Amino acid sequence: MKKAILIYYTGTYNTRYIAEKIKEKISDSYDVDHLEIDLHTPAVDLSSYDLIGLGYPIYAFNAPSFFLNYLKKMKFPKDKQYFIFKNSGESFALNNASSRKIIKYLKKNNVNRFSEYHFLMPYNIHFRYDDAFIYELFEADRKLLEVLKHDILNDDVRHLKSNFLYDLVSRILRIQTFGGYLNSYFYRVEDTKCIKCGLCVKKCPVENIYYKNGKIKFRHHCLMCMRCSFYCPKDAISIGMLQKWKVNGAYDFEKICSASNLKDSKYVEKQQGFFFKCYPKTFAEIDKMYNQIQNKSK
Ligand SMILES: Cc1cc2nc3c(=O)[nH]c(=O)nc-3n(C[C@H](O)[C@H](O)[C@H](O)COP(=O)(O)O)c2cc1C
Ligand code: SF4
Ligand code: SF4
Repeated sequence: MKKAILIYYTGTYNTRYIAEKIKEKISDSYDVDHLEIDLHTPAVDLSSYDLIGLGYPIYAFNAPSFFLNYLKKMKFPKDKQYFIFKNSGESFALNNASSRKIIKYLKKNNVNRFSEYHFLMPYNIHFRYDDAFIYELFEADRKLLEVLKHDILNDDVRHLKSNFLYDLVSRILRIQTFGGYLNSYFYRVEDTKCIKCGLCVKKCPVENIYYKNGKIKFRHHCLMCMRCSFYCPKDAISIGMLQKWKVNGAYDFEKICSASNLKDSKYVEKQQGFFFKCYPKTFAEIDKMYNQIQNKSK
């Protein structure tokens, strides 16, 4: 059987969720390895793989610098099939340029053929998504997964349209490179809430959290991944300048997917305001790709 590897960085595990779905989708045709990177992940030899997927959550219209620093060390053999699977909390086309650095690394290795897919997931920062909203996002993701599978099996290539403006915005907003460092000076744990369960210390992907004299302390190489504050069982972590945007508590994706009462809620259609305006267009684009591959396979 052919071999695939999904190399990804995840903060609060949304990217891991997508990686697992991709694995399920293609496992009839590929033996799939997962590589979720953390502080100690060595550069991996890709020569034995046929298919290589690179996945990340979008941070401020960019790929997280931690993931980019990891990929920088990698050699990308030319004669392989590549795809990028990214995800984010909003579907603005401005996100289309977020992979520009990854594309640069691929091209540096003479890899000019690759595809890119943008999955829709709930925010892990800013505000909590309603279950009915997530249900609709997952409907679109389910179709996009079919498109991805079709492209892989047919060796088709698919790109996201970028332009000068998207590229410029992405370059200007590369703030997360410094943001984590600066913001970590303001991280605090509320002693009255903290039960010293150690989850945050254990789960931080870059060992930025430690105990000192029985208290939780932070170092200053935070990735702003939100894993500690998102999963803290007592909501005891205050995330400095982003405190007003904190989201605490995991989304129950399996429960949401099987909640048949959410099926016809038409959540997006009923929303007002700029934030929701881009979704119908994105849903329509995914529907179009999905219908095209369905028609092709008839
Ligand atoms: C520091 C930070 C910046 C983010 N910036 C964006 C953004 O520019 N656009 C967006 O749609 N989502 C943004 N998000 C939301 C995440 O991309 C989204 O929730 C993603 O699914 C998280 O994936 P993960 O659980 O694998 O980390 C941001 C999240 C964080 C923590
Ligand atoms: S996860 Fe929350 S409750 Fe547990 S040790 Fe960390 S701050 Fe305290
Ligand atoms: S301190 Fe928290 S937000 Fe920063 S890298 Fe660690 S888990 Fe992520």
